[in-house]
Amino acid sequence: MPVTHTLEADVLRRQDPELAEILLGELDRQSTTLQLIAAENFSSPAVLAALGSPLANKYAEGYPGARHHGGCEIVDVAERLAVDRAKALFGAEHANVQSHSGSSAVLAAYAALLRPGDTVLALGLPYGGHLTHGSPANFSGRWFDFVGYGVDAETGLIDYDQVRTLARTHRPKAIVCGSIAYPRHIDYAVFREVADEVGAYLIADAAHPMGLVAGGAAPSPVPYADVVCATTHKVLRGPRGGMILCGAELAERVDRAVFPFTQGGAQMHSIAAKAVAFGEAATPEFRLYAHQVVANARALAALLAAEGLVVTTGGTDTHLITADPAPLGVDGRTARGRLAAAGMVLDCCALPHGDARGLRLGTAAVTTQGMGEEEMASIAALLAGVLRGETESLKARDQVRELTGRFQPYTG
Ligand SMILES: Cc1ncc(COP(=O)(O)O)c(C=O)c1O
Repeated sequence: MPVTHTLEADVLRRQDPELAEILLGELDRQSTTLQLIAAENFSSPAVLAALGSPLANKYAEGYPGARHHGGCEIVDVAERLAVDRAKALFGAEHANVQSHSGSSAVLAAYAALLRPGDTVLALGLPYGGHLTHGSPANFSGRWFDFVGYGVDAETGLIDYDQVRTLARTHRPKAIVCGSIAYPRHIDYAVFREVADEVGAYLIADAAHPMGLVAGGAAPSPVPYADVVCATTHKVLRGPRGGMILCGAELAERVDRAVFPFTQGGAQMHSIAAKAVAFGEAATPEFRLYAHQVVANARALAALLAAEGLVVTTGGTDTHLITADPAPLGVDGRTARGRLAAAGMVLDCCALPHGDARGLRLGTAAVTTQGMGEEEMASIAALLAGVLRGETESLKARDQVRELTGRFQPYTG
């Protein structure tokens, strides 16, 4: 499923050559290095076109049919289209597509359901919880009383017994499931059961797997969670942004929590781009893509394990892999630096055991480029060679350039 389209950079090049150079430099970086950051992807030119459209000029506080500004009749149609497509794609009764980002969506979900000081049970940050799941550096940790559940130190899997015990002990107002680094499917039914037992809301922060859900390659949280928050980028391949799905009974509370409580005017160019992405995600091609993302991640996880890295949970169900490179004689931070020098871009992450940092990588972007299991084998061999010090970074960089040269994300 290679994406081959033409990007028009001439306008900017003529008017602002300085900035055009910067954009072209970034395009070159994205095209000649391996994008293995699990949260990133290549949006289609149609999504990028909507982002760069005159809808960016429009102010539209409020919701379709009830705006605080005039002239919203056209953008109202765009927002209704995005909402209808999101509802159809995910089988949700209500969709709010205005959240500026995944974090804004989570903030709005809390605002809709909680009061400052309420207790919330979420995956602890050392185990892959997001900053919005109770970090003291984030509004969530300051305004709410977060209790963290963990993962089993041996298996790396969510400890559902601990979730139940902590819920019974702390009687949280809400339970959050979702992570920045959990490679396995989340058992939403168990979370629902626990939430029901203690009378808590269930908030699924499905920022990472939502694109897989759209493509039928991961279970959906929508039938189980009271509120589902997600990003529209990552595997979903839309513009940077967020969305919230919920049942009809919470629709008004969620909408008010987004606007006017936590945000101002809706960003109509971004909402239009979300509509484009939802349309793309509803196609058979996207289903194939989502399944290939998982097939690639499974293959890459197995190959990295064969190279000696310790793959958390022994593999993956999703686009995301976390692994400890220590057996290759290098810690996560050093590994990330060495790989960056070789043109392989990925993140560090916490590991379930101990304090050492591991590596987090994902296959969403390379799969959009058209790479398959064969290329995963090349990537795993290159990565391990660099970490072992067997392949010099300049030589590896050339090999990355050769590989990406055959799978260009954009042309023109
Ligand atoms: C689970 C989870 N929640 C929330 C977010 C926040 O998304 P954003 O960076 O768009 O605010 C992320 C981002 O990676 C995430 O993984």
